[in-house]
Amino acid sequence: MSKKIIVLNGSPRKKGNTSALVKAFTEGAGSAGNSVTEFFLDDMNIRGCKGCFGGGKNPDSPCAQKDDMDKIYPVYKEADIVVLATPLYYWTMSGQLKCAFDRLFAVAECDPNYRNPKKECALLMAAEGNGFEETLYWYDRLEKHIGWKSIGKVLCGDVMAVGDIEGKKELKEAYELGRSIN
Ligand SMILES: Cc1cc2nc3c(=O)[nH]c(=O)nc-3n(C[C@H](O)[C@H](O)[C@H](O)COP(=O)(O)O)c2cc1C
Repeated sequence: MSKKIIVLNGSPRKKGNTSALVKAFTEGAGSAGNSVTEFFLDDMNIRGCKGCFGGGKNPDSPCAQKDDMDKIYPVYKEADIVVLATPLYYWTMSGQLKCAFDRLFAVAECDPNYRNPKKECALLMAAEGNGFEETLYWYDRLEKHIGWKSIGKVLCGDVMAVGDIEGKKELKEAYELGRSIN
């Protein structure tokens, strides 16, 4: 059965290495009949979580802050799979992705026990080096604690400039990860 996939792309570079992984993944997922909605977060007005614990009152617009997260919430709600895509910035995800991700807490606030909706997830990353360990630790914690199940990760190191990723095997891996979903 085809799945609904939401991609949160935290790179600021539309033609960068992370976006190339997203494109390959999306092509693969589409070829297997899945539907993919990508949000290019850097183009959106998404502020950081205020920690007000005042969300969760309206499931369609669960956060107390009103901004472009309201475009993401309905797609997130329907999604079977959440793809987190980000360049490695100082051994972690980009600020764009972190801001959006924290704001998903407002969805958990809709549940009296702060339970997150059950999803599958995937991680796509690009970096100049290969220091993915800290982000993988975070991703592992995420899986364990919010109850998501990872369907795969594609980590592409040794890419710095736009275009460096061309010809790298990770593009094929991202395509195959997408194609494996059904
Ligand atoms: C603010 C900033 C921080 C970065 N920190 C790291 C880092 O900690 N480790 C690393 O290997 N690369 C780091 N990089 C390099 C990027 O991860 C690399 O250029 C990546 O390919 C960018 O992906 P993009 O093309 O999707 O923007 C950093 C780049 C920037 C702009």
